[in-house]
Amino acid sequence: MFYSLARHCLFKLDPEVAHELTIKQLSWLANTPLDCFFRQRVPSRPVQVMGLTFDNPVGLAAGLDKDGECIDAFGAMGFGFIEVGTVTPRPQPGNDKPRLFRVIPAQGIINRMGFNNKGVDHLVEQVKKSRYKGILGINIGKNKDTPIEQGKDDYLICMDKVYAYAGYIAINISSPNTPDLRKLQYGEALDELLSALKIRQTELAEKHNKYVPLAVKIAPDLTHEEIDQIADSLIKNGIDGVIATNTTLDRAMIFDMPHAIEAGGLSGRPLQSKSTEVIRYLSQRLDGKLPIIGVGGIDSAMAAREKIDAGAQLVQIYSGFIYRGPPLVKELVENI
Ligand SMILES: Cc1cc2nc3c(=O)[nH]c(=O)nc-3n(C[C@H](O)[C@H](O)[C@H](O)COP(=O)(O)O)c2cc1C
Repeated sequence: MFYSLARHCLFKLDPEVAHELTIKQLSWLANTPLDCFFRQRVPSRPVQVMGLTFDNPVGLAAGLDKDGECIDAFGAMGFGFIEVGTVTPRPQPGNDKPRLFRVIPAQGIINRMGFNNKGVDHLVEQVKKSRYKGILGINIGKNKDTPIEQGKDDYLICMDKVYAYAGYIAINISSPNTPDLRKLQYGEALDELLSALKIRQTELAEKHNKYVPLAVKIAPDLTHEEIDQIADSLIKNGIDGVIATNTTLDRAMIFDMPHAIEAGGLSGRPLQSKSTEVIRYLSQRLDGKLPIIGVGGIDSAMAAREKIDAGAQLVQIYSGFIYRGPPLVKELVENI
């Protein structure tokens, strides 16, 4: 009831203004008696994945709280885990506005934000301030002006800085909004990146006396052959998990709808079956060697169940949460 009212007002605003306003209000209200507007009890459904115990299998996907400013508020909503970021070594403004569009008839979103974020140091400060006790994923990327050949260094800088504070680290090589980023998903570039990250993980585990799993986030726009290669490289390099999927460049599902021609990544319901098919194929190829975090168009318990049936151990939501709010978290935890 409260969210339908809030959504009614928020959807009258420009999407990015609505987003910023919501993030500000959530960060003000968290840990005050007024958090009763979004705090909710959900049943405990513990799951063990990547050697970690998640309170329940429903997580917040990356990009909603890029700078980690509302961790406690999202924790109060009952998420089993929260992924903040994508964060880059240096702060950056992202792409020109407008860069966020609702595709309401399809319950989709198109974004070309371009990793707007306040930088990894700011994120770490936010994490230190938070009281959240659940699993926190920190999603890392490269700055736009770092040449792709040096992209690896940006991931290593972020990894060094977030390692001590992360439950797991997500490696984002699949955003369509940073030029050439998706090239890191292929062939030698991928192998080189993953082996460097693995070596650094081993060093950091020793230094901090704590093993933090690495999960790689992939695109939905991959051929079977490309998925095969990625799966083999993840296994070979000892990566701990895979997040499937990021947003799609495909517009087939919304070709006649408002904003369909906007550049960027499409998420929400139009992505649902495409991401499920990637998970299904990936899961066969991985054959249980690595867990999958399934994300893409989850807006009901049935959609979440499809991801799990396709091979995901955990799920995440972003667009469904924009359209349905905190009640979706409760519905998912109670019914999957
Ligand atoms: C506005 C917006 C910003 C996003 N930013 C990021 C990001 O910074 N890093 C990332 O890994 N994924 C990002 N994503 C992708 C989501 O985490 C998720 O993978 C994708 O939206 C599919 O899930 P959904 O259909 O539930 O939204 C973003 C998505 C949206 C809609």
